[in-house]
Amino acid sequence: MAVGEEMYGFVSGPLVLIAFVLFVLGLVIQIVRFFRMTRKKDPVAIPVSSPRQKDVDALRPPEEVRKKVRLRGTVLRMEPFMAVVTTIFHLMLILTPILLLAHNLLLEMSWGLRFPSLGEGTTDILTVAIMGFCVFFFLRRIFSAKVRAISTPYDFLLLFLVFLPFATGFVAYHQLFAYKIVLLAHVLAGELMLICIPFTKLVHMVFFFLYRFFLPGEYSFAPVGRRVWK
Ligand code: HEM
Ligand code: HEM
Repeated sequence: MAVGEEMYGFVSGPLVLIAFVLFVLGLVIQIVRFFRMTRKKDPVAIPVSSPRQKDVDALRPPEEVRKKVRLRGTVLRMEPFMAVVTTIFHLMLILTPILLLAHNLLLEMSWGLRFPSLGEGTTDILTVAIMGFCVFFFLRRIFSAKVRAISTPYDFLLLFLVFLPFATGFVAYHQLFAYKIVLLAHVLAGELMLICIPFTKLVHMVFFFLYRFFLPGEYSFAPVGRRVWK
């Protein structure tokens, strides 16, 4: 079993580091790409006969009206249920692996670093909930006509890629069968997911913020974006 042992050592040793480096470096590269694909907006030229500020202010709708229309067309207004579901899903998805005791023990052993950990019972329940959310998103892509219309095999593949580390982590934790092999599969699944984040549509992890804070008209949070596509 020397080959098996060697592979185990590589996957749970250097490959973990490689995965994290690719994850961080990939995200940095994508952020740099975003700034290279966009440029600062030209300053607005103000015509000589521009209206006076007080006339412009007089034309602005009152605050109550602006408050009412602010959410129009946003996910929060159009699909409040999905906005809540996806927020809870993402919070769990990001926090569970970070606050997981097993991960923190490994992190401490190799880097002397440790985040606070939740109880194992809690993270186990969160894991089941995350898997449940993945199943929900899967069924939504099949049964909701408007989501099915824009779904491709790629969307299903990526959803499965996100589901896999949680499913294998769960099976490993409960030692349901072939512990060593399942654990190896878990570490590989985790690494694969991390590496895929910057290079697949999972890159929305950073693009979500870049688009919404810098670009106008991309469901932006900022009323007027500071950059435009080149
Ligand atoms: C990349 C390197 C990774 C390593 C070395 C690793 C290692 C481990 C280990 C040793 C366990 C405990 C198994 C047991 O108790 O016997 C575990 C559990 C778990 N891992 Fe990972 N993991 C990695 C990545 C990930 C990623 C990226 C995710 C999710 C995004 C993840 C999610 C989980 C979950 C949710 C559990 C616990 C499941 C439960 O308690 O029900 N892991 N991991
Ligand atoms: C903090 C950063 C993140 C933000 C702000 C964010 C935001 C979003 C938004 C707005 C959606 C669309 C929700 C909808 O269909 O209504 C989405 C979908 C999704 N996100 Fe994220 N995301 C983030 C990080 C991540 C990460 C790190 C992963 C996994 C590694 C991930 C996995 C997914 C998946 C799988 C879906 C699609 C679910 C489906 O198939 O419908 N997200 N995200």
